[in-house]
Amino acid sequence: MATQAVAPLSLPPLPYADNALEPVISAKTLSFHHGKHHRTYVENTNKLIAGTELADLSLDQIVTVTAGRADRASLFNNAAQAWNHSFYWRCLKPKGGGEPPTTLKQKMEEAFGSVEACRKELVNNAIAQFGSGWAWLVLEGSKLKVVKTANADTPLTQGMRPLLTIDVWEHAYYLDYQNKRADHVNAVIDKLTNWEFAAENLARFAAGRL
Ligand SMILES: [Fe+2]
Repeated sequence: MATQAVAPLSLPPLPYADNALEPVISAKTLSFHHGKHHRTYVENTNKLIAGTELADLSLDQIVTVTAGRADRASLFNNAAQAWNHSFYWRCLKPKGGGEPPTTLKQKMEEAFGSVEACRKELVNNAIAQFGSGWAWLVLEGSKLKVVKTANADTPLTQGMRPLLTIDVWEHAYYLDYQNKRADHVNAVIDKLTNWEFAAENLARFAAGRL
């Protein structure tokens, strides 16, 4: 996904109102998640790149060049979380869920046998991620896959192209669901998933655009 190459990086606004995802995600959760957690990742990234050779890179580039470098772990964690969250907001929409667009549906059927089987993989990965992390629908080569990543890790640096993600850090659901991660994940997938966004990503990658 292309992101703006400007220093300092800015917190992108939510693509909907704080209360637009209720009752699945409350306005309180969304305002803390975006206004506090995501904002902190962006601010920390800016502090860590200020005055360095990385200051003029895009967020994608910062994530890519710091991945796997022990001396840049703090910057990677904050930059990757900033990227993951910008992507995540766009994976949700009010009155989402339902049937994916045909292009995506066909790819799901090719890889998993059915949309429902793909959906189950996403749910299972989101639930199985031990501790903080993310579940993702990705394109690897020309095939769809579902993967999970821990903490700030992102398929961006693992040779995969993300189509869709679900945040399973506790800050994404604890105010609304406490320890019931599975309830949150099922509700998000069935009622908020922006399959059109995933299909747009698929089309962009299929056309060779990153
Ligand atoms: Fe989060």
